Amino acid sequence: GRTLSFLRWPETVDDHSAWLYEDDGGLLLRDDRIVAAGAYAEVEKKVDEGVKKIDHRPHLLLPGFIDAHAHFPQMQVIASYGAELLDWLNTYTFPEETKFQNAQHGRRVARLFLDEMVRHGTTTVAAYCSVHKESAEAFFAESHHRNMLNIAGKVMMDRHAPEGVLDTPQSAYDDSKALIAEWHGKGRQHYAITPRFAITSSPEQLEMAGALCREHPDLHMQTHLSENHAEIAFTLQLYPQASDYTDVYEHYGLLGRKSLFGHCIHLSEREADALSETGSVAVFCPTSNLFLGSGLFDYQRYRRREKPLRIATATDVGGGTNYSMLRTMDEGYKVIALNGEKLNPFQSFWQLTRGNAEALSIVERIGTLDRGSDADIVVLDARATPAMRLRMETADTLAEELFLLQTLGDDRAVREVYVAGRAAKTDMAV
Ligand code: GUN
Ligand code: FE
Repeated sequence: GRTLSFLRWPETVDDHSAWLYEDDGGLLLRDDRIVAAGAYAEVEKKVDEGVKKIDHRPHLLLPGFIDAHAHFPQMQVIASYGAELLDWLNTYTFPEETKFQNAQHGRRVARLFLDEMVRHGTTTVAAYCSVHKESAEAFFAESHHRNMLNIAGKVMMDRHAPEGVLDTPQSAYDDSKALIAEWHGKGRQHYAITPRFAITSSPEQLEMAGALCREHPDLHMQTHLSENHAEIAFTLQLYPQASDYTDVYEHYGLLGRKSLFGHCIHLSEREADALSETGSVAVFCPTSNLFLGSGLFDYQRYRRREKPLRIATATDVGGGTNYSMLRTMDEGYKVIALNGEKLNPFQSFWQLTRGNAEALSIVERIGTLDRGSDADIVVLDARATPAMRLRMETADTLAEELFLLQTLGDDRAVREVYVAGRAAKTDMAV
């Protein structure tokens, strides 16, 4: 097959040493790992007992896509009309999430959510569950059953929301502790400490979140930051001693290399410096930011500033409007264009794979096709639809093929998906 993976950020479309591309490539898997990748003739020599050869000529094999921020309990929130962030949360999202106190509902939606991720070529997601411990149990059980490498956490929220989605500082701490003990490091599961955002967590609860981070420094922490002007104003009213929104999280010890901050649209220079200095990650959620009218994430400014930000990209389902990371990067391209900049197709596909793996600090396992890494692979067909096939007639280069996949592609362009070496998209259809 044709294989593509990245070594580093590609400066231009001619920066060939930034990626590994084999026109006549081979990929060998043993159980859940990649044992060889490279030129077919070389790889072919290594075929032996117990090794599976992956070949999907003429399609493209890439590391599975990574979605750095999504809400699994919001599958029935997508396409909720007419509101900006705070009204959208109060009117649609919080009521919907109350349903996840029912464990059976959580199990059903977790199954459908991970089906949808896999169908779209996403093999790893950093997911928010609901406030209910049962919802995280359901998510992890489903993820573990599929042998997916996912990151997830029970949302911590103890105020400014309906009774049915509230915990307390102590119950959030206790439930998180129990979930960490049960799920973190079980198979491929990763727990993320997940205070929803400053508005829905009391100071006492953010204190607890900070305590969890100190007690488990290897865990991810995920939350929302600087998404919407009304959100920022309310946050500063609730935390009057904070110098800015980022300072709220800083005060409770929530910044760091494993910390994922959704949105980060309206950051001041000081806030961006604070994120940069701590190695914190800003998560770009273009479809969500457009849908909720939140603003334009300035990807190139953050990347190029003197103190650059680590950046990941994500769907933010269900503020986000599509499960596909191809659709997401297409909208991301347009957001960046509105800031007067461009993202080239190699940069996009770097971001979707290795870039997001680096941002999540799991590039040793996923995001590349390196020997020894986990066999999470997506197979892409740039001729998946009649319109794509026609457009491909005039696309001569790999850069054009990638850009076409991003611009017109969706789940139809995903021919197969391997999760830990298993053909998961085909399995699902059967
Ligand atoms: N801020 C706090 N909660 C949420 C959420 O569920 N979605 C988005 N987009 N922003 C949030
Ligand atoms: Fe979100």
